[in-house]
Amino acid sequence: MKIESHYELSDLIKPEETFCKKANIQNNDLYEKANHNRLDFWEEQANQLNWDQPWDSVLDWKKPNAKWFVNGKLNAATNCLDRHLTTHRKHKTAIIWESETGQKQTLTYDQLHKKVCQLANYLSQTLGIKKGDRITLYMPLTPELAISVLACARIGAIHSVVFAGFSANSLQDRLNDSESKCIITTDIAVRRGSEINLKEIVDEALEKATSVKDVIIHKRTNKTINWVSNRDHNFDEAINQSSTTHKPESMDSEDPLFILYTSGTTGKPKGIIHTTGGYLTHAQYSTKVVFDIKDDDLYWCTADIGWITGHTYLVYGPLLNGATVFMYEGTPDYPNAGIFWDLIERYSISIFYTAPTAIRAFMKSGESIPKQYNLSSLRLLGSVGEPINPEAWNWYYTHIGQKKCPIVDTWWQTETGGIMITTLPGLHDMKPGSAGKPLPGIQAQCLQDDGTTIHSGGGLLSLTEPWPSMARGIWGDQERFNEVYWSKFETYFAGDGAVKDKDDYFTVIGRVDDVLNVAGHRIGTMEVESSLVDCPKVAEAAVVGIEDTIKGQAIIAFVILKEGISESANLEQELKQFVATKISPIAKPKTIIITPDLPKTRSGKIMRRLLKQAANNETLGDTTSLANPQIMEKIKQLIK
Ligand code: WTA
Repeated sequence: MKIESHYELSDLIKPEETFCKKANIQNNDLYEKANHNRLDFWEEQANQLNWDQPWDSVLDWKKPNAKWFVNGKLNAATNCLDRHLTTHRKHKTAIIWESETGQKQTLTYDQLHKKVCQLANYLSQTLGIKKGDRITLYMPLTPELAISVLACARIGAIHSVVFAGFSANSLQDRLNDSESKCIITTDIAVRRGSEINLKEIVDEALEKATSVKDVIIHKRTNKTINWVSNRDHNFDEAINQSSTTHKPESMDSEDPLFILYTSGTTGKPKGIIHTTGGYLTHAQYSTKVVFDIKDDDLYWCTADIGWITGHTYLVYGPLLNGATVFMYEGTPDYPNAGIFWDLIERYSISIFYTAPTAIRAFMKSGESIPKQYNLSSLRLLGSVGEPINPEAWNWYYTHIGQKKCPIVDTWWQTETGGIMITTLPGLHDMKPGSAGKPLPGIQAQCLQDDGTTIHSGGGLLSLTEPWPSMARGIWGDQERFNEVYWSKFETYFAGDGAVKDKDDYFTVIGRVDDVLNVAGHRIGTMEVESSLVDCPKVAEAAVVGIEDTIKGQAIIAFVILKEGISESANLEQELKQFVATKISPIAKPKTIIITPDLPKTRSGKIMRRLLKQAANNETLGDTTSLANPQIMEKIKQLIK
């Protein structure tokens, strides 16, 4: 596959001198150290954590299996909390939270620590959860979710956070795949003014998820909810009845810390496994150097903890650094398009990390909205989740950062655990649209299909040396892990296309596989297709991505109906709703096209490439291998 390097990203923008002079990283020393001896460099980063027992060797690498900081022992929660309690940070605010409805909560490191210990005691002593057991967390973005994450880490239980927008069906699959013993949830989530009854969704999921023995419910309303005795427990009561001191489990560096499900190219999501020592090393280091975190910052990452960005840069990374984190349970456009700027003004937020899809939506509602707010507290901006187009970059830089805040465009993935490619804010010039360089300690290349390195130009992005926060596997499916990431090249295959320019900056173009990136969410086309064919009215389905000015990509589904089913006025709506209920509203197709047939090769393989070209109004590629070439004309008409 050839990726055209059609990007001309030559406008270099220098970070402001005032920023650079105070930046955590002001020179190339880290790059030099890492280039000189990569393992010594990582060892130095690992030494920034508190270990119960030092490691014997830094890396044991037998592709694709890595062990970092071999035989070292530590606990993630004590590194995030306990070690700050003997410093000036004991009474420093750890979390400031606000909800869409204006509910507020503030927790100092000391208060957060107590709650985490209490929940940890309840989980281990009352419920008998042990090291290595899995606990699923299905909660909205509240401090209680962060408390739950850290309580699991404290007792050595493996957390699997499932984004609270997923359906009962998706939750059930994830509970069964991880064989979770316990689930922690909330009675309701609030989204754009309406309440979603999470407990009901959990009850439905549990009808066919038999590994779960206990449910802990954080009740934020007084509404009566279904309560199963001997199974359901109240979160606040659990905390209140438990001791505030707890002896943490000393974990092996390679013990799993969490599983996080993400979409791949098959119908089944992958449970990506991250381990303790390496993950925490990179989370702490990357947060410090990329976000330039200082003690007096108020740092806001808008991602939900249900995604990897929320794991690494809303919970672990900032807390490891003793930062104050702002959490907001709400969307950028409700109750009005100025809500994010209002929050930045009210709380004097200094670092703001969000997704290009949000920036493009802000752009659409116009710069007059952020102009009404005082955004002068901001000093650094970040972007993540999908490529940011230069136009959106410039808008963000000008209207939010007032041309004084550097932007870090951070490329990484659920599998990489933390940021891999970006500019360092006080060191590098920025190129709108280009992520930048691999972080010190990280090696990346663009490769040709045959694995040869492209020194300048477009290719397939690969990380060419192991790094501490790399995924260690797919839960229950090591073969798939080897196959997806480690069989194409000698080195890690990211699944993204990128262009490397003469200054060694990487511009990531997007996925080269059957994974879509809709508003920064990874969605497998196969997942959507298999949910559509589950609908009794559908015989076959093919799903492709089309360009979308706000969401980056949108889903378009081509559907063949079963014999005897005829098109009706609300069929499109019905099918969209079917996908939303099967997977999640985030996977809902934008358009559904009912077609009598799909383009197929003589062996019956659907040629999605042609559908994608037709949907994006591009010239069609070669149709000669089709068994039914005439169908493309028909499909083109249907699209119009
Ligand atoms: C895309 C999110 C361009 C990419 C942290 C990757 C990006 C996928 C960027 C991972 C960026 C993420 N520029 N593309 N700065 N950041 N991506 O696992 O396609 O939800 O493979 O992790 O998002 O998505 P995931």
